[in-house]
Amino acid sequence: NVMKHVSGIPQLEKQLKNILHLSRVVIVPGNSDEQPWVKNEMGLTCVKVMESLITDNTVIAIMGGTTLAAVAEMMHPFKQSQKKPLFVSARGGLGEQVENQANTICAKMAEKADGHYRMLHVPDQLSEESYHSLSMEPSIRESLLLIQSAGMVIHGIGDAMTMAKRRRSSQELLDKIRKEHAVAEAFGYYFDQNGKVIHKVKTIGLQLEELNDERPVITVAGGKSKANAIEAFFKKGPDSVLVTDEGAAQQILQNN
Ligand code: G3H
Repeated sequence: NVMKHVSGIPQLEKQLKNILHLSRVVIVPGNSDEQPWVKNEMGLTCVKVMESLITDNTVIAIMGGTTLAAVAEMMHPFKQSQKKPLFVSARGGLGEQVENQANTICAKMAEKADGHYRMLHVPDQLSEESYHSLSMEPSIRESLLLIQSAGMVIHGIGDAMTMAKRRRSSQELLDKIRKEHAVAEAFGYYFDQNGKVIHKVKTIGLQLEELNDERPVITVAGGKSKANAIEAFFKKGPDSVLVTDEGAAQQILQNN
Protein backbone atom coordinates (compact mmCIF):
# COMPACT_ATOMS: atom_id res chain seq x y z
CA ASN A 1 0.00 0.00 0.00
CA VAL A 2 2.18 2.76 -1.35
CA MET A 3 -0.15 5.75 -0.82
CA LYS A 4 -0.53 5.15 2.90
CA HIS A 5 3.21 5.61 3.42
CA VAL A 6 3.87 8.55 1.13
CA SER A 7 3.16 11.23 3.75
CA GLY A 8 5.66 9.58 6.09
CA ILE A 9 8.58 9.75 3.69
CA PRO A 10 9.91 13.23 4.59
CA GLN A 11 9.91 12.14 8.22
CA LEU A 12 11.69 8.92 7.32
CA GLU A 13 14.31 10.85 5.34
CA LYS A 14 15.00 13.08 8.33
CA GLN A 15 15.42 10.13 10.69
CA LEU A 16 17.71 8.30 8.31
CA LYS A 17 19.84 11.41 7.79
CA ASN A 18 20.40 11.56 11.55
CA ILE A 19 21.14 7.87 12.00
CA LEU A 20 23.58 7.69 9.09
CA HIS A 21 25.03 11.22 9.56
CA LEU A 22 24.43 12.21 5.97
CA SER A 23 23.68 15.62 4.56
CA ARG A 24 20.89 14.38 2.33
CA VAL A 25 18.72 11.27 2.01
CA VAL A 26 16.09 10.72 -0.66
CA ILE A 27 13.71 7.79 -0.21
CA VAL A 28 11.46 6.33 -2.89
CA PRO A 29 8.33 4.38 -1.88
CA GLY A 30 8.39 0.56 -1.89
CA ASN A 31 10.97 -2.19 -1.40
CA SER A 32 13.15 -3.01 -4.40
CA ASP A 33 13.76 -6.55 -3.07
CA GLU A 34 10.14 -7.34 -3.82
CA GLN A 35 9.12 -4.76 -6.40
CA PRO A 36 11.64 -4.58 -9.23
CA TRP A 37 10.33 -1.25 -10.56
CA VAL A 38 11.39 0.43 -7.30
CA LYS A 39 15.01 0.05 -8.47
CA ASN A 40 14.17 2.07 -11.57
CA GLU A 41 12.50 4.68 -9.37
CA MET A 42 15.74 4.97 -7.40
CA GLY A 43 17.54 5.20 -10.74
CA LEU A 44 15.36 8.06 -11.90
CA THR A 45 15.72 9.84 -8.56
CA CYS A 46 19.49 9.49 -8.84
CA VAL A 47 19.42 11.03 -12.33
CA LYS A 48 17.48 14.00 -10.94
CA VAL A 49 19.95 14.46 -8.09
CA MET A 50 22.83 14.30 -10.60
CA GLU A 51 21.10 16.89 -12.74
CA SER A 52 20.66 19.21 -9.75
CA LEU A 53 24.30 18.87 -8.65
CA ILE A 54 26.10 19.12 -11.98
CA THR A 55 28.50 22.03 -12.35
CA ASP A 56 30.94 23.15 -15.05
CA ASN A 57 32.91 20.05 -14.23
CA THR A 58 30.78 17.55 -16.09
CA VAL A 59 33.06 14.55 -15.53
CA ILE A 60 31.11 11.89 -13.63
CA ALA A 61 32.82 8.82 -12.17
CA ILE A 62 30.62 5.71 -12.30
CA MET A 63 30.72 2.34 -10.52
CA GLY A 64 28.95 -0.90 -11.42
CA GLY A 65 26.08 -3.11 -10.25
CA THR A 66 22.41 -3.66 -11.06
CA THR A 67 21.36 -0.47 -9.27
CA LEU A 68 23.78 1.63 -11.32
CA ALA A 69 22.45 -0.19 -14.38
CA ALA A 70 18.97 1.05 -13.38
CA VAL A 71 20.36 4.60 -13.16
CA ALA A 72 21.63 4.19 -16.74
CA GLU A 73 18.26 2.81 -17.79
CA MET A 74 16.51 5.94 -16.51
CA MET A 75 19.17 8.42 -17.71
CA HIS A 76 18.16 11.42 -19.84
CA PRO A 77 19.95 14.59 -21.03
CA PHE A 78 20.63 17.08 -18.21
CA LYS A 79 18.53 20.21 -18.70
CA GLN A 80 20.74 22.84 -17.06
CA SER A 81 24.12 21.69 -18.26
CA GLN A 82 25.75 23.57 -21.14
CA LYS A 83 28.54 21.08 -21.64
CA LYS A 84 27.95 17.44 -22.48
CA PRO A 85 28.56 15.14 -19.52
CA LEU A 86 31.51 12.75 -19.63
CA PHE A 87 30.90 9.44 -17.87
CA VAL A 88 34.04 7.65 -16.76
CA SER A 89 34.31 4.15 -15.47
CA ALA A 90 35.77 4.45 -11.97
CA ARG A 91 36.99 0.90 -11.36
CA GLY A 92 38.27 -1.95 -13.42
CA GLY A 93 36.28 -5.16 -13.70
CA LEU A 94 35.25 -6.73 -10.42
CA GLY A 95 34.12 -10.03 -11.88
CA GLU A 96 30.64 -8.84 -12.80
CA GLN A 97 28.57 -9.83 -15.82
CA VAL A 98 28.88 -7.39 -18.72
CA GLU A 99 25.56 -5.61 -18.07
CA ASN A 100 26.62 -4.86 -14.47
CA GLN A 101 30.09 -3.58 -15.32
CA ALA A 102 30.95 0.08 -14.92
CA ASN A 103 32.19 0.24 -18.54
CA THR A 104 28.87 -0.92 -19.99
CA ILE A 105 26.92 1.35 -17.67
CA CYS A 106 29.03 4.38 -18.66
CA ALA A 107 28.45 3.79 -22.34
CA LYS A 108 24.71 3.47 -21.82
CA MET A 109 24.55 6.60 -19.66
CA ALA A 110 26.43 8.56 -22.29
CA GLU A 111 24.09 7.40 -25.00
CA LYS A 112 20.96 8.32 -23.02
CA ALA A 113 22.32 11.62 -21.69
CA ASP A 114 23.71 12.65 -25.07
CA GLY A 115 27.17 12.76 -23.54
CA HIS A 116 30.55 11.05 -23.88
CA TYR A 117 32.15 8.15 -22.07
CA ARG A 118 35.56 6.84 -21.23
CA MET A 119 36.06 3.22 -20.29
CA LEU A 120 38.72 1.75 -18.04
CA HIS A 121 40.12 -1.34 -19.73
CA VAL A 122 41.62 -3.35 -16.91
CA PRO A 123 40.81 -6.94 -15.98
CA ASP A 124 39.61 -8.06 -12.56
CA GLN A 125 41.71 -9.46 -9.77
CA LEU A 126 45.16 -8.26 -10.76
CA SER A 127 48.38 -9.73 -9.47
CA GLU A 128 50.74 -7.28 -7.76
CA GLU A 129 53.01 -7.38 -10.81
CA SER A 130 50.44 -6.65 -13.49
CA TYR A 131 48.80 -4.08 -11.25
CA HIS A 132 52.00 -2.05 -11.27
CA SER A 133 52.76 -2.40 -14.94
CA LEU A 134 49.18 -1.60 -15.97
CA SER A 135 49.20 1.52 -13.79
CA MET A 136 52.10 2.75 -15.94
CA GLU A 137 50.29 2.35 -19.24
CA PRO A 138 49.73 5.81 -20.79
CA SER A 139 46.09 5.18 -21.73
CA ILE A 140 45.29 3.89 -18.24
CA ARG A 141 47.14 6.76 -16.58
CA GLU A 142 45.03 9.12 -18.65
CA SER A 143 41.81 7.41 -17.53
CA LEU A 144 42.96 7.52 -13.92
CA LEU A 145 43.65 11.25 -14.13
CA LEU A 146 40.18 11.76 -15.57
CA ILE A 147 38.63 9.75 -12.73
CA GLN A 148 40.54 11.81 -10.19
CA SER A 149 39.32 15.01 -11.82
CA ALA A 150 35.66 13.95 -11.74
CA GLY A 151 33.21 16.45 -10.28
CA MET A 152 30.84 13.77 -9.04
CA VAL A 153 30.97 10.09 -8.05
CA ILE A 154 28.03 7.67 -8.32
CA HIS A 155 28.17 4.24 -6.67
CA GLY A 156 26.14 1.40 -5.19
CA ILE A 157 26.45 -0.70 -2.02
CA GLY A 158 25.96 -4.44 -1.91
CA ASP A 159 25.49 -7.11 0.73
CA ALA A 160 28.97 -8.64 1.21
CA MET A 161 28.18 -12.31 0.71
CA THR A 162 25.76 -11.65 -2.15
CA MET A 163 28.42 -9.66 -3.99
CA ALA A 164 31.26 -12.11 -3.33
CA LYS A 165 29.17 -15.00 -4.67
CA ARG A 166 27.89 -13.05 -7.66
CA ARG A 167 31.48 -12.22 -8.60
CA ARG A 168 32.54 -15.85 -8.24
CA SER A 169 35.14 -14.92 -5.65
CA SER A 170 37.60 -17.45 -4.31
CA GLN A 171 36.69 -19.80 -1.46
CA GLU A 172 39.36 -17.96 0.50
CA LEU A 173 37.45 -14.68 0.23
CA LEU A 174 34.12 -16.33 1.03
CA ASP A 175 35.69 -17.82 4.18
CA LYS A 176 37.18 -14.48 5.15
CA ILE A 177 33.82 -12.76 4.75
CA ARG A 178 32.20 -15.36 6.99
CA LYS A 179 34.95 -15.36 9.59
CA GLU A 180 35.35 -11.61 9.82
CA HIS A 181 31.63 -10.91 9.49
CA ALA A 182 31.74 -8.68 6.46
CA VAL A 183 28.30 -7.27 5.74
CA ALA A 184 28.82 -4.60 3.09
CA GLU A 185 30.61 -4.20 -0.22
CA ALA A 186 31.29 -1.03 -2.21
CA PHE A 187 34.08 -0.10 -4.67
CA GLY A 188 35.47 -3.62 -4.36
CA TYR A 189 36.01 -3.12 -0.61
CA TYR A 190 34.36 -5.37 1.97
CA PHE A 191 33.32 -3.89 5.34
CA ASP A 192 32.21 -5.30 8.68
CA GLN A 193 29.31 -3.89 10.71
CA ASN A 194 31.57 -1.18 12.16
CA GLY A 195 32.63 0.01 8.74
CA LYS A 196 36.09 -1.51 9.05
CA VAL A 197 37.62 -2.66 5.73
CA ILE A 198 38.25 -6.39 5.97
CA HIS A 199 39.18 -6.99 2.34
CA LYS A 200 39.94 -4.98 -0.76
CA VAL A 201 39.87 -6.39 -4.30
CA LYS A 202 43.02 -5.28 -6.06
CA THR A 203 41.87 -3.37 -9.09
CA ILE A 204 42.85 -0.12 -10.71
CA GLY A 205 40.64 2.93 -10.36
CA LEU A 206 38.98 5.15 -7.80
CA GLN A 207 39.92 4.23 -4.25
CA LEU A 208 37.81 4.82 -1.18
CA GLU A 209 40.34 7.29 0.28
CA GLU A 210 39.82 9.53 -2.71
CA LEU A 211 36.20 10.11 -1.76
CA ASN A 212 36.87 12.25 1.28
CA ASP A 213 37.03 15.52 -0.57
CA GLU A 214 34.76 18.24 -1.79
CA ARG A 215 33.09 16.59 -4.75
CA PRO A 216 29.60 15.22 -4.30
CA VAL A 217 29.13 11.48 -3.94
CA ILE A 218 25.76 9.94 -4.71
CA THR A 219 25.12 6.51 -3.20
CA VAL A 220 22.25 4.50 -4.68
CA ALA A 221 21.26 1.42 -2.71
CA GLY A 222 17.92 0.05 -1.55
CA GLY A 223 15.94 -3.04 -0.59
CA LYS A 224 15.33 -4.36 2.90
CA SER A 225 18.13 -6.91 2.38
CA LYS A 226 20.71 -4.11 2.09
CA ALA A 227 19.80 -2.36 5.35
CA ASN A 228 22.82 -3.73 7.27
CA ALA A 229 25.16 -3.09 4.37
CA ILE A 230 24.06 0.54 4.02
CA GLU A 231 24.42 1.16 7.74
CA ALA A 232 27.85 -0.48 7.87
CA PHE A 233 29.19 1.43 4.88
CA PHE A 234 28.25 4.81 6.36
CA LYS A 235 29.85 4.08 9.74
CA LYS A 236 33.11 5.31 8.21
CA GLY A 237 31.97 6.17 4.69
CA PRO A 238 32.13 9.58 3.07
CA ASP A 239 29.32 12.09 3.34
CA SER A 240 27.03 11.57 0.40
CA VAL A 241 23.56 11.98 -0.97
CA LEU A 242 21.89 8.63 -0.34
CA VAL A 243 19.15 7.54 -2.71
CA THR A 244 17.37 4.56 -1.19
CA ASP A 245 13.92 2.99 -0.80
CA GLU A 246 11.41 2.57 2.01
CA GLY A 247 12.30 -1.12 2.40
CA ALA A 248 15.89 -0.33 3.41
CA ALA A 249 14.95 2.82 5.33
CA GLN A 250 12.32 1.13 7.55
CA GLN A 251 14.69 -1.72 8.36
CA ILE A 252 17.56 0.63 9.29
CA LEU A 253 15.19 2.51 11.56
CA GLN A 254 14.09 -0.70 13.22
CA ASN A 255 17.72 -1.69 13.86
CA ASN A 256 18.38 1.57 15.70
O1 G3H B 1 29.30 -2.41 -5.14
C1 G3H B 1 28.10 -2.55 -4.95
C2 G3H B 1 27.39 -3.40 -5.81
O2 G3H B 1 27.85 -3.16 -7.08
C3 G3H B 1 25.90 -3.26 -5.75
O3 G3H B 1 25.34 -4.07 -6.71
O4 G3H B 1 23.38 -2.72 -7.31
O5 G3H B 1 23.60 -5.05 -8.08
O6 G3H B 1 23.16 -4.59 -5.69
P1 G3H B 1 23.79 -4.10 -6.95
